[in-house]
Amino acid sequence: GDDGYQLWLKYDRISNASLRTSYTRSMQFIATEGSSPILNTATDELRQGLKGLLGQSIPSVKASGNRTGGILLRVTPMGADVKDLTPEGYRIVKRQDNLQIISQTDAGVLYGVFALLRQLQMNRPLDSLAVVSRPKVKFRMLNHWDNPNATIERGYAGESMWKWYELPETISPRYRDYARANASIGINGTVLNNVNASPRLLTGEYLKKVAALADVLRPYGIKVYLSVNFAAPKILGGLKTSDPLDPQVRQWWFNKVKEIYQTIPDFGGFLVKANSEGEPGPQDYDRTHADGANMLDEAMKTYPGVVIWRAFVYKADPNADRFKAAFEEFVPFDGKFGSKVIVQVKNGPIDFQPREPFSPIFGRMPRTPLGMEFQLTQEYLGFATHLVYEAPLFKECLDADTYVSGKGSTVAKVIDGSLHGYERTLMAGVANTGSDRNWTGHPLAQANWYAFGRLAWDHSLTSEQIAEEWIRMSLTREPKAVRRIRHMLLRSRDIYVNYNAPMGLSRPWAGVHFAPEPWQNKSPRPDWTAVYYHRADSIGLGFNRTATGSNALSQYHPEVQKGWADAETCPLPYLLWFHHVPWDKPLSSGRNLWDELCTHFYTGADSVQWLQREWAQVKPAVDPVLHADVAGRLRTQYEEAIWWRDAWVLYLQEYAQRPIPAPFQKPK
Ligand code: GCU
Repeated sequence: GDDGYQLWLKYDRISNASLRTSYTRSMQFIATEGSSPILNTATDELRQGLKGLLGQSIPSVKASGNRTGGILLRVTPMGADVKDLTPEGYRIVKRQDNLQIISQTDAGVLYGVFALLRQLQMNRPLDSLAVVSRPKVKFRMLNHWDNPNATIERGYAGESMWKWYELPETISPRYRDYARANASIGINGTVLNNVNASPRLLTGEYLKKVAALADVLRPYGIKVYLSVNFAAPKILGGLKTSDPLDPQVRQWWFNKVKEIYQTIPDFGGFLVKANSEGEPGPQDYDRTHADGANMLDEAMKTYPGVVIWRAFVYKADPNADRFKAAFEEFVPFDGKFGSKVIVQVKNGPIDFQPREPFSPIFGRMPRTPLGMEFQLTQEYLGFATHLVYEAPLFKECLDADTYVSGKGSTVAKVIDGSLHGYERTLMAGVANTGSDRNWTGHPLAQANWYAFGRLAWDHSLTSEQIAEEWIRMSLTREPKAVRRIRHMLLRSRDIYVNYNAPMGLSRPWAGVHFAPEPWQNKSPRPDWTAVYYHRADSIGLGFNRTATGSNALSQYHPEVQKGWADAETCPLPYLLWFHHVPWDKPLSSGRNLWDELCTHFYTGADSVQWLQREWAQVKPAVDPVLHADVAGRLRTQYEEAIWWRDAWVLYLQEYAQRPIPAPFQKPK
């Protein structure tokens, strides 16, 4: 059986013999000009891939000489072939009867090799290969929320992959497979540890372990980064303070960065969660986020690394609107951050909810490079039990129009730097990987890792295209099954939203982020209760964020406000994000609020049965072990969807005092 370990890198022999023959004709040899660890990786991967797909060992040579009918891997820093590329971009051309993969850098050649292999895996003709590809974003990275004790915060695929207690002496073969998977989708960085960072990672002992991992990842074009604990000077260095303006503290970081680069010469940089959810930070010393970030920026000055400072902050103020917090704390510092800093912003203003409006920070800090943080691990999307293909969620945010420089100022253009001329561009995904044999727990959640990498490379790809690729490379090439599974994936996120948090509801839970607890109203922090978010009462439901309420809407450009400010015209998926709506209010759907909500809850839960039926249909086309695994998860998902639906409906009914609409009343 297929246990999912190989992800989308299956190089099974292409079954169509004539297709195989036609590919083989243009792949008589591989000529690699030059040699380097990354180029060797590219050559090896190509040989391995072709051996599997074509069933033949293709010889690899140093130069093509006068031979034709082969593949050339060529790095050339300058010249006509590469002048329209960025460093990691590549060009694939057929020239003098050879297929050439050309780039300014070794890494670009590696990405070109994976693009070629993808074409073969998809059984697509070679002449339709895109000839030029450039990554739209420079830093494309995973953020692991892995702790040194092997647990993963919000991880649902087993323990951490990093065997800290075995490193640096023992190198698990899984590290290399992880590197291959990432390189194949263009990911070039990885933050190894949790943003709630243990200072331990910065000790000499651990830096040796980090260096060992960096050695494995380097030949795949991947750099390592670390999350740092802002109080490290105190905790590790024994200083009295971690005040960013204190000379000794600054010296401590200076020395630490120097030590890191002596151990890991191409270290990627730091990721910092500061003054957020109890983590230490510059505000502990009455300093600002800019003071904190700029201290690290200075320590990093003569080194290649970057300082990624997270904007995920909010205070425990019962009268405040958490929605507004990050904007209020960060926008005033626009232009105040040092030249190595990137501010990393979650896609929405709250916290990775099933559907959020885009964060109002995007577009509002034109002088500060802003990076995107998406969450691949399904903290709020049903863990590893519910099927949620996230590409539509990512795209919804990336395609949203901020209007800050007129119509068409999409979030994607903020992130790729084209709108404000950022050079340091970043897209980060909170990883959904763990030590589970199939990497992601839910076998179909591999698609989220895949989709993230592909979109970080090129955000103009569609959710459909990416789903199609992933299915054909990972599950099956049987056309009807591909169509069915694609349809399942594309609908899955809306199905989840419908039974879990429809119409702009959010965060209906307490601690575990799984069980429905919309009634939860007790916590040391008001913004850690569920009732804070949905505001149900006898009149209606939803959070008034218009001018008569918290006025969070004012953080958006007037054109964006126009779309959401009027409850009459606000699109229903966002309605309760911005309005407190009476239960009996007639909506554009023709139903009143209560009936509309019930329709979402009930059709959402019912749609899980549709997922089950579709999955049953594809059984002959999919590996039996994997099929059974997903079928089991879908059964649980259905049970839980009903649980969600009933919890919400029964709870809200206490306020709405209305019957469940007739179509949904029939006994189940
Ligand atoms: C969420 C999540 C935390 C995480 C935090 C963050 O609140 O539940 O586990 O630490 O986000 O992104 O920093």
